[in-house]
Amino acid sequence: MHLLSGSSNLPLAKKLISLAKGQMIDREIKNFADKEIKVKLKDDKLKNQHITILETLSNSDQLIELCLLIDAAKNEGAKKISVIIPYLFYSRQDKPKTGEPFSPNVIIKILENSGIDHITCLDLHSEKVKNKFAIPVKHLGITKLLKEIIKEDFIVVAPDAGGTKRAEAVAQHYKLPLLHIEKKRLKDSKVIAKLEEETNIKGKQCLLVDDIIDSGNTLCEAANTLHDHGVKSIQAFCTHAVLSGNAIENIEKSNIDKLFVTNSINPTTETTNCKKISIIDIATLIHESLK
Ligand code: R5P
Repeated sequence: MHLLSGSSNLPLAKKLISLAKGQMIDREIKNFADKEIKVKLKDDKLKNQHITILETLSNSDQLIELCLLIDAAKNEGAKKISVIIPYLFYSRQDKPKTGEPFSPNVIIKILENSGIDHITCLDLHSEKVKNKFAIPVKHLGITKLLKEIIKEDFIVVAPDAGGTKRAEAVAQHYKLPLLHIEKKRLKDSKVIAKLEEETNIKGKQCLLVDDIIDSGNTLCEAANTLHDHGVKSIQAFCTHAVLSGNAIENIEKSNIDKLFVTNSINPTTETTNCKKISIIDIATLIHESLK
């Protein structure tokens, strides 16, 4: 494996290259004074090679950086370019209303037009997003990642309608009951949540499952609802730890006992220092998918 890592998640790239016993492509990534990105590949043996690039996309600069790396690899004569994108931003904007763009499609088109041959993604927001790709995509699911945290007396909880399929897949795989929460977003960040079905969950252990935790409001509100119904414990799994603004403070103050996230986005020190958060490594999952 010839792996070229962007700057978004170097620790994950290093884990992956060590598992694959491959070669990391030497590169330099710098910024001009105005933050414009400059990349340079320092490996002159890329001609006719299959190059794999790893770049998590959680901000626009990372997208630009990825496109620059792709172009540089092509200019060096790479014969095939595969890209691993553990987190694909803009995916949650998949239900455009009148006057709005289909945002994930805009990002997907940029990626496809950059000339890549294959993409590997983890836990895309929806089937709708996955179906927008015209080039081959390997979509990695989360069920295997949950193996270590699942307990046989868990109730799996979908924190909103959009997350139902994901939570359903987890519940089905581990043969656990499933509960739905109905979420209403009042403003961009204010959320209210209520149980969709009146069920007695007093004394039960719940596992909320979602793809993205950004402000934390969706999960914290869902946890409040579960708490109000007298559950014994609330754990949560969210694949992509965006964790912006006061998210970590919100989680620390919330009724969530434990939050599991992955390193699809490189965890910040604040995230790793938060006692309620545990990080599940995705390097092996990606490595096995590439075999
Ligand atoms: C929404 O469609 C996603 O699946 C997440 O539930 C949402 O992005 C979480 O955002 P926040 O943590 O800001 O509530």
